[in-house]
Amino acid sequence: MQGRGIRYHGYPVALVVAETLEQARHAANCIRVDIDETDVRVAVSVGDSSFDELWTHPELQTPESLDGGLEPDAANGDFESQWQHAVHQVDVCYHTPNQVSAAMEPHATIASYDGDKLTVYCSLQVIGSAVEGLANTLKLDPSKVEVNSPYIGGGFGSKLGIHNDAVLACLASLMLKQPVRVVQTRRNVFSNAPHRGSSVQHIRLGMDAAGRLVAIGHDSVMPAAHGYPFAEATGACARTTYSAAGIRSRHRVLPVNMPVLDSTRAPGDAIGTLAFESAIDEAALVCGIDPLDFRLNNMPDKHPTSGLPFSSHDLAGCLREGAERFGWAQRSKVGPEARKLRGFGLASAVRINMLVKSAAELELDRTGAIVIRTDMTDIGTGSYTILAQIAAAELGIAVEDVTVKLGRSAFPTSSGSGGSFGAGSTGSAVQAACHNLKRELIKLLSEAPLCSSMSKGAIDSAQLSKGRILVDNEDFSLQALLESADLDTLCVKGQVEPGEDHDNYAQSSWGAHFVEVSVDQDTAEVTVERITTVVSAGTILNSKTAASQVKGGVVWGLSYALRESLMLDERYGAFMNRDLAEYHIPVNRDVPDIDCHFRIQPDFRSNPLGSKGIGELGICGAGAAIANAVFDATGVRIRSFPITLDKIL
Ligand code: MOS
Repeated sequence: MQGRGIRYHGYPVALVVAETLEQARHAANCIRVDIDETDVRVAVSVGDSSFDELWTHPELQTPESLDGGLEPDAANGDFESQWQHAVHQVDVCYHTPNQVSAAMEPHATIASYDGDKLTVYCSLQVIGSAVEGLANTLKLDPSKVEVNSPYIGGGFGSKLGIHNDAVLACLASLMLKQPVRVVQTRRNVFSNAPHRGSSVQHIRLGMDAAGRLVAIGHDSVMPAAHGYPFAEATGACARTTYSAAGIRSRHRVLPVNMPVLDSTRAPGDAIGTLAFESAIDEAALVCGIDPLDFRLNNMPDKHPTSGLPFSSHDLAGCLREGAERFGWAQRSKVGPEARKLRGFGLASAVRINMLVKSAAELELDRTGAIVIRTDMTDIGTGSYTILAQIAAAELGIAVEDVTVKLGRSAFPTSSGSGGSFGAGSTGSAVQAACHNLKRELIKLLSEAPLCSSMSKGAIDSAQLSKGRILVDNEDFSLQALLESADLDTLCVKGQVEPGEDHDNYAQSSWGAHFVEVSVDQDTAEVTVERITTVVSAGTILNSKTAASQVKGGVVWGLSYALRESLMLDERYGAFMNRDLAEYHIPVNRDVPDIDCHFRIQPDFRSNPLGSKGIGELGICGAGAAIANAVFDATGVRIRSFPITLDKIL
């Protein structure tokens, strides 16, 4: 796949194509593979040595020494001198394990080459880059590659790009000139889809006598797959959340012979906040300050390391409102059950907000029905619903009159789904297309003998309803209008791309989590009793799908705090728990009702809809709030995730 050597355990060395699955499996079992062993590194861990030893490892790579993929060091002021002079200090090392997306639907591809064109059906978050990737890899003209992915059963980053199943299916189909299907088994998904690398995060927090942060240090070391220079920006939260006179955040990686490490749900922030917001709890404790007040006392008035103003900032608002809704001030450790310890924790949620160039096409027919086409995907997030709602609201028509067609490379290129940017980016393109449709209709109206002059605000006020267009208090039949222009349908495009507001302002979505846990005194079993999450992410496009995204993210946070760990056989680099029975993720019984509340504050520097990213925000900080509650209950601070009961005991 990527040269002659075997790069990692589970790396595909051959593909057997047969008429039936049984034949293919039997034939694959007949293949004998002889392997020459070489020494490899598969894990990055501190083990018995100190963080300093890891930090001075001769093979450690800096962002500059890699071909992209890692954020450069960031600083504000002089961290070292602020740290030396701090009155209170927290100097801790947190570990997070390898993790995997574990999307419900495994990766699979059908490729069909007819001698001229290659048609691919695949499970993907982003279509445009998949066409490009396949065309480059297979040395085909991109116009001869069609990619379709209209419905996806979860992705979480693991389907941002194409993987072995797609490349192998295409190679076989090109060779055989017939359709070939490659389905990754559940166990193969664990080794042949990207996973999230482990992290070692060294966090130093220095405070003055009044408990104000003066020094924030965040150094993290992660693995990166050989030849694939990606590592998460685990320090992003340390650069963004709180102000301090001295801040320094650095990322380093060690190359490993492991499957590709790439984006997994909220790359950087998910595991960065898990460690950082736990360390902030430790900082509040050494200062003897309530962790809510500690956070509120250290709010930044501009982005702490870039110095840019925030497009909008509502972290303090989320913390205050969350505390109110949860009853933080009234929390009581007296619970109903004997032999259960009770604890409370909170954490800030911060996630970068992005806008990605997107286009959409709108087609209006003579009956007034609308079809939207864009290569945007729906990975279970509700894209079909949201885009129909945006068009219906913009045009003044019923949602039932809008048909949304997604996930085909023949349609205009969009952001796709990833980085919490999908709904805002593609939604803005749809909104722009609606605006252009009204403009075209008004142009037709003024050209037709139907109507004389239009007011300046005609485009904004124009509404479509029941086969008619209403402008300036007059209404006209769309059928007559299109007929007069000799058109069966009217087709327009809309587009959006990031402008100056994304260069000149730091943009984030904000939130806060409040958690109550109980811990069994005898078994150390942790039960999450209740969670309140308050989110400030601009306009909420659909409160049901948005709340589902946030709650899903919080469940991931719960999982990262208490459950998930992709365990490694350090001799050969094999993941040992490669199925959903042994790779523990929460089930219904583990998850309490999550009280999710939105503070709706449109931010038009984010995009024309005023919305901000929400998909990944819920996961950020949720795990730390749970970890902080476990500490509050037990007095045991576990700095190696997940917090399993053996560690508490
Ligand atoms: Mo996301 S991890 O950018 O799908």
